[in-house]
Amino acid sequence: MHRAAAEQFLGACRDAISSRGRFNAVLSGGTTPLGLYSLLASEPFSSRVDWSAVHLYWGDERCVPTDHSESNFGMVKKVLLDFLDIPGENVHPMKGELGPEEGARDYENLIMDFSTGEGGMLFDLVFLGLGADGHTASLFPGSRAVNEASRRVFPVSRDESGGHARITLTLPALNSASIVIFLIAGGAKAGVAARLLSGEVASILPASMIQPEDGCLEFYLDAEAARIWQAA
Ligand code: 6PG
Repeated sequence: MHRAAAEQFLGACRDAISSRGRFNAVLSGGTTPLGLYSLLASEPFSSRVDWSAVHLYWGDERCVPTDHSESNFGMVKKVLLDFLDIPGENVHPMKGELGPEEGARDYENLIMDFSTGEGGMLFDLVFLGLGADGHTASLFPGSRAVNEASRRVFPVSRDESGGHARITLTLPALNSASIVIFLIAGGAKAGVAARLLSGEVASILPASMIQPEDGCLEFYLDAEAARIWQAA
């Protein structure tokens, strides 16, 4: 699963750089993508990427310091960024330390400073994970962010996330991507993955609201996560 995702990253990166000289990728938080990030940080993948033209963004962030164990930026720094020769100005973390409201406004300004041109496509490639409750990024069932139809970055409260306050890209931002890839692993996700892959679309299953307008949507699962869907 991680190798397939890494190959897709390379292909999308090569296409974006050859057509626009820049590749805008959104990284997912959580633990599932760690294997992917480790692959991208090592050979044969790392040296096949022109990191000077790659810009990395985050799909969501917890409002904690970057050295906190739950920082998505901190996780990516540990397994990927610390091994790459990527210019600092190409790495665009969400500033969780500003708090959800100010952090969301800050990131909205940051990502609105660029556009890939074609119909306002913001991102070439977005990686997303899937929570057992059907959330993706920090779009939790019943949260205000799920219903946001214009802002591209939105705050998430502690009550909505059930943990730290967060900052998240919204459906308008995520659905503007050229390619969206869900990485789903482990038996605990088998039930929710089956619902997602069955084509159920409901706001109580926020991941099902990811429907790129002009982009493609791909699901990469490991055998355990695919168990129920394959048996259906
Ligand atoms: C986060 C992620 C979140 C994650 C899912 C799955 O910041 O937590 O953006 O959406 O992808 O919760 O998490 P795991 O990969 O750890 O199962």
